[in-house]
Amino acid sequence: MILKAKNLYKTYDKSPILSGVSLSVKPGETIAICGRSGEGKTTLLHILGTLEEPDSGEIEIAGMRLTRSNAKELRNSQIGFIFQAYNLLEDFTALENVLMPARIARRNPKRDEGLELLALVGLEHKADVPAKVLSGGERQRVAIARALCNNPNLILADEPTGNLDRENGKKVGEILIHLKKTLILVTHDPELAALCNTRYVLQSGNIF
Ligand SMILES: Nc1ncnc2c1ncn2[C@@H]1O[C@H](COP(=O)(O)OP(=O)(O)OP(=O)(O)O)[C@@H](O)[C@H]1O
Ligand SMILES: [Mg+2]
Repeated sequence: MILKAKNLYKTYDKSPILSGVSLSVKPGETIAICGRSGEGKTTLLHILGTLEEPDSGEIEIAGMRLTRSNAKELRNSQIGFIFQAYNLLEDFTALENVLMPARIARRNPKRDEGLELLALVGLEHKADVPAKVLSGGERQRVAIARALCNNPNLILADEPTGNLDRENGKKVGEILIHLKKTLILVTHDPELAALCNTRYVLQSGNIF
């Protein structure tokens, strides 16, 4: 298993958000998580991705039990994130954004590494353009290339097509599905969810 989560609980201000979520993710599996706004999809994705801690429950990533002391290393080596709002550094170029995870992991990446990642999303020609001049669809493709830096085993995407028009959303969705990576995707888009191997709905604190 790439990821195993057991009995995750999370409460915010006395409201239970997750009430015993368990989930196993096989290598190569693509999982869609749907659910109404406010049900806790982002919270779950952040907990699975080591960005937030659950109140209780256990997570194993690539066979290692997640703890406070190994969270940063597991995150840097195993997980790539894609957010609804892209979260690029606006004044940095597409290439610099793509290589940021390598710098965070204290690697010294070569330009060619970034160019190869940008080529995967069809944006090699935008390498030296600052993120702030890119279109929404282009930004999200840069964010996908960035998520692939450090060659993570698991990609977590939170409504990656939520801010895009239909055409760009379709393009971004297809790139994600064809990455041949293990993927957990939160989406409101039934067409994108239908492209995944496994579909869950998060409702009342649990997944079905
Ligand atoms: N840091 C926080 N502190 C307090 N409450 C929070 C925090 N993060 C999330 N919540 C609350 O937890 C609930 C679930 O939030 P979450 O963002 O996980 O929902 P979601 O399913 O991703 O919704 P959406 O589809 O709108 O993105 C919401 O009621 C939210 O207000
Ligand atoms: Mg959300």
